[in-house]
Amino acid sequence: MKFFIDTANLDQIREANELGILDGVTTNPSLMAKEGITGHDNVLNHYKAICNIVNGDVSAEVISTDFKGMVEEGERLAGLHPNIVVKVPMIVDGVKAISHFTQKGIRTNCTLVFSSGQAILAAKAGATYLSPFIGRLDDSSWDGIELIQQIAEIYSIQGYETQILAASVRNALHIVKSAQAGADVVTCPLSAIMGLFKHPLTDIGLAQFLADHKKANG
Ligand code: G3P
Repeated sequence: MKFFIDTANLDQIREANELGILDGVTTNPSLMAKEGITGHDNVLNHYKAICNIVNGDVSAEVISTDFKGMVEEGERLAGLHPNIVVKVPMIVDGVKAISHFTQKGIRTNCTLVFSSGQAILAAKAGATYLSPFIGRLDDSSWDGIELIQQIAEIYSIQGYETQILAASVRNALHIVKSAQAGADVVTCPLSAIMGLFKHPLTDIGLAQFLADHKKANG
């Protein structure tokens, strides 16, 4: 399973990249706004800055909602760097745009996915990645991990090549459960990645090893 970080914060991207386990980055308009990245040129430059930090796919989301707008915007984003993946919302014109990008060899990430039906549409259109939002489903009492399982089963039976990218991840358990459910990629905040490190027995064991070494060696 590939690890992407879900942020537009350059410091966090660098920190995750230094762990040596980062495969890419996902962003969205909310994450860009959170970092104060506004204005057309600044947004494009920010994507380029991210691509210069991480050697992996970087999802850049279109903000148009009509086919023509999404195509123009997506082609401009894809031209920024070979690692840019155009993120497109799961709406009617979005599926049309994904199909267009697929034919042109532009890679896509279909976002705002909340059902298996939507997952089938995105795969049929040839999306490179599919982003089911598991945290937002859990927030509203639907089971996000169950959706990942169902999509993984459907994609396997049908032989769809679209990669399942578990998104809207809230914690380390979401990462583990996504891996178990068959996600190809997980995108998560740095806090969730760091949560994977935590186990009290590791800390207790290390303290004991160091104490024993000190006792024996002075
Ligand atoms: O980037 C899409 C997704 O990961 C958003 O997550 O936390 O806003 O539900 P969240």
